[in-house]
Amino acid sequence: MLRVIAPAKVNLHLSVGSLRPDGYHDLTSVFHALELADELVIAPSDLLRVVCDTDLGIDPVDNLVYRAADAMSAAFETPASFQIALHKHIPHGAGMGGGSSDAAAVILGLATLWGVDPRDQRCLKVARDLGADVAFFLCETGAALMTGRGDTVGAELPPLAGMPVVVLCPPSRVSTPMAYRRFDADPVPGRSADVMVEALKEGDRAMVVRSLFNNLAPAAVSLAPQIADALDWLVAGDGVLGAAVSGSGSAVYALCADEAAAEMLAGRALVDTPWWAVRTALGPQGVHVKTNREVTT
Ligand code: C5P
Repeated sequence: MLRVIAPAKVNLHLSVGSLRPDGYHDLTSVFHALELADELVIAPSDLLRVVCDTDLGIDPVDNLVYRAADAMSAAFETPASFQIALHKHIPHGAGMGGGSSDAAAVILGLATLWGVDPRDQRCLKVARDLGADVAFFLCETGAALMTGRGDTVGAELPPLAGMPVVVLCPPSRVSTPMAYRRFDADPVPGRSADVMVEALKEGDRAMVVRSLFNNLAPAAVSLAPQIADALDWLVAGDGVLGAAVSGSGSAVYALCADEAAAEMLAGRALVDTPWWAVRTALGPQGVHVKTNREVTT
């Protein structure tokens, strides 16, 4: 039996470019893992079965966890005879990469159980075929510059692990394809990720805060106007250094000055706003096998 931790992500920088012939957009993004994470328990079974403690509103075989196990089985010509129990903590459909991280956790878990290097090209191909965000979560560190469709590692970066974060998630889910279509109808210019990359390399929190960028945010806001309200609420909070939309939303996040400020802000969010809220922090790593010392999230 193996326990695998599947962290959420935020995009510290997301610069969407032009539409490609394959229906995806070229983009440049700096992804950062969070401590907020799902957990997967992978145990031997007679056949592949996925159980989830949350109703995700989809058929279990359409779950990225099931599809990842199926794709690994095909890639390595080995039956994926496992029961995979998925414990969800990351809100789904929120731009936090929950489904993609779960898929990456299955790739890592099965590779580990089969004695395969998770950075084997076959694992990376399985990751890319499942979705644009999956490859990031297989990075060794918690931060990376991603290019292409968002599935090519431009550079792994030193994470700002421990920086306090508060996430707010308005209930109106944003469909990612719709956000990109809205973007195409009214494109917003992108910008280089160089400053954000430099900020992480220097470990410069102030520069990270100053460089937060997401040109998909206006499209997300036009589909779910509450995102703008949630952002305004965060920005006005005590001890908030900066705030941004993660991916195509609807999650927004604030980088906070210290843990006490984050604790206070998350507590106030639960009382003063109708939105799902959590206090977490930027995390040190992508998907990883859980150690005995790690506390369950
Ligand atoms: O790959 P994933 O399933 O995460 O992407 C969901 C949708 O988001 C795609 O079908 C596409 O419409 C849009 N997308 C895009 N360009 C990207 C990533 C996603 O247009 N680089």
